[in-house]
Amino acid sequence: MKFELDRNSPTPLYQQLRNQVRERILSGALPPGTRLPPERTLARRLGVNRTTVVSAYRELAAEGLVEGRVGHGTVVLRPPEAAQSGVVRPMRWAGPTEAEEPLVADLNAILRRPGAVSFAHGEMSPELYPVAPLATLAHRVLQDGSALGYGPIAGYGPLREAIAAAMGVTADEVLILAGSQIALYLISRVLLQPGDTVLVESPSYINSLGIFDSAGVRVVPVPVDRHGLVVEGLEELVLRYQPKLLFTLPNFHNPLGVTLAPERRRQLIQLAARHQLGIVEDDPYGQLYFTPEPVPTLKSMDPGGYVIYISSFSKTVSPALRLAWIVAAPPVVERIARARGNLDFRAALLNQRVMEAFLREGHLDRHLAAVRSTLKVRRDALMEALEAHMPPGVTWYVPEGGYHVWCSLPRPLTARRLLTEAGRDGVAFMPGDFYGAGQLARRGLRLNFSYPRLEEIGPGIQRLARAVERLLKEEASAGGEPGAFSGPVV
Ligand SMILES: Cc1ncc(COP(=O)(O)O)c(C=O)c1O
Repeated sequence: MKFELDRNSPTPLYQQLRNQVRERILSGALPPGTRLPPERTLARRLGVNRTTVVSAYRELAAEGLVEGRVGHGTVVLRPPEAAQSGVVRPMRWAGPTEAEEPLVADLNAILRRPGAVSFAHGEMSPELYPVAPLATLAHRVLQDGSALGYGPIAGYGPLREAIAAAMGVTADEVLILAGSQIALYLISRVLLQPGDTVLVESPSYINSLGIFDSAGVRVVPVPVDRHGLVVEGLEELVLRYQPKLLFTLPNFHNPLGVTLAPERRRQLIQLAARHQLGIVEDDPYGQLYFTPEPVPTLKSMDPGGYVIYISSFSKTVSPALRLAWIVAAPPVVERIARARGNLDFRAALLNQRVMEAFLREGHLDRHLAAVRSTLKVRRDALMEALEAHMPPGVTWYVPEGGYHVWCSLPRPLTARRLLTEAGRDGVAFMPGDFYGAGQLARRGLRLNFSYPRLEEIGPGIQRLARAVERLLKEEASAGGEPGAFSGPVV
């Protein structure tokens, strides 16, 4: 509490002090209940006579702004209405404001450079969106005024039915939501209590971590390797922590790009059955497979309603539609539907009607076939470029679908350091530690291949590889050891 008194001013010192305290009380800077400094202490601090402070406090007390309390000294009161009139007191919202993630600013600065290549995005390049059929269907759906009303709480019936048919379940097991993010949020609010434990892969989808954090649950990390979630050792974690849920990304993991091996899927389901462990299977990329057939979902192997499946049209059709769905046992669907009523009330009916027509008229199948083949060509181009240009010591996983490749740098390089170096050349990617802690994450980079166009991939990786080489040279001249192995980890 700092006050400045001006000895050259014609205003007496006690009035200056009174005015400054009054101003702070009325602006809310000194809220009710605040204890003012004891008279003697403040007098000493300001280098004035004690009577100066006593007079100031006495006048403030006369205005009803402070009160002398035995044993508490002088305490600020709620200002009387009259004292406040004409004074604008800015609203003081409680709680901390979230700081902007500095990484986002760094990436934006890199991407503003002319000729920049982004391996950092989490979406498709715009020319891959099915603009023409969506525009035609939106125009047609808009001819019918009923598409502009509220829809049912669990989603537009025909869309629920179409999704249910595609997944081999019944419509009452399907709930349409405005994005996977909302799905996960609602699951955490409906099925978890603060203090519960959830098992989460490390690294994992970054935005899930914020949800678990805000739900006040304890997150216990589970390792992931090139065959997906490491099931060995999981039973010990279940026995030790008694988790309510396991959150997993079995197909084309974000950020690792890996896929859960079939044997591990079987083991995981058996474990869930033995321990009544709920599994949340987040699968936005599952339909973007580069193999002849899709990988069976955990949900399709679920004998007892252990799995809550989440998927989305964000990665396959367009994130702007904000359409995702949950497949779960009907009582879970009902509970989550009720909770959604309090959150966003309904998903946009218009978008659901357009999407339903998109499915019914066969556009989705045609579109998915085209996207899979484009993404596979881009994945192959990325693999070739990595093999051609990356120096020894850099390794990567080969994804069988989805959007991402995970690349590991040799010690002692870190992805953040590389981002600074490659950023000067206009190449952006996501540093691994953004998705979790640990050495693996610090040396890892997530390279996206759904956003850069084919012709950008080779030159972009070449620039990235040169940046790695420059850093390795710096290390070598500083006496570091270069890595030995280079290439895909298969
Ligand atoms: C694994 C995973 N889950 C969920 C989402 C979010 O999808 P939506 O747009 O449906 O909220 C993403 C998006 O990056 C993702 O990678």
